[in-house]
Amino acid sequence: MTKATIIVDGREIKAEVGSRLLWAIIDAGIWVPNLCAIRGLEPPDGGCRLCWVEVEDRESPVTSCTQPVFDGMVVRTRSPAVDRLVRAGFEMLLSTHRLDCKDCPGNRRCALQEIARLRKIPLRGKRLFKIEPDFPVDESRADLGLNPNHCVLCGKCVHVCNHEVKKGVLDIANRGIESVVSTFDGQPLAEQDCGDCTRCAEVCPVGAIYLRR
Ligand code: FES
Repeated sequence: MTKATIIVDGREIKAEVGSRLLWAIIDAGIWVPNLCAIRGLEPPDGGCRLCWVEVEDRESPVTSCTQPVFDGMVVRTRSPAVDRLVRAGFEMLLSTHRLDCKDCPGNRRCALQEIARLRKIPLRGKRLFKIEPDFPVDESRADLGLNPNHCVLCGKCVHVCNHEVKKGVLDIANRGIESVVSTFDGQPLAEQDCGDCTRCAEVCPVGAIYLRR
């Protein structure tokens, strides 16, 4: 393990050479918006397009979850270009997100609400055309629910289901605007061999998969 010394927002921090920059920044206690990053997942997904930072001598901002650390790198987590990209990614996500926060089990612990608050981006932006999703909600289990209308496709539930608890129940079905977290065979959660496992609800950052108890 070779250690790198990097500067983030003027602070010197140590990180492993080749490790992903996002985790070095977060482990140093500096917040960067992120949804799809999963510690240890290689290669990173890089799908949510929120974790932008500037690296000195790079022409344009980079996504920190995909950026390897190198010694001497100088990083800024905020700049006009970074803020513009974060805002664009966030607005894109919200343009297909059902915003019924009051009735959402994720209300007040939702990563989207946190990003909106910390980056001062309105949840109900007006710049993009809104496509209101209308997927069926699965409350076939007494203890667990899945509302794809709140899902941000971060892939965390699919990852824990397939790679951590190795149940292989969840997957991302369809493509493009129709993409949705679903059971692998499309059947209700109650018909799946999950047992008491509710790890998917624990890792969901927005309450799209949630505990009903
Ligand atoms: S956390 Fe980096 S692109 Fe999603």
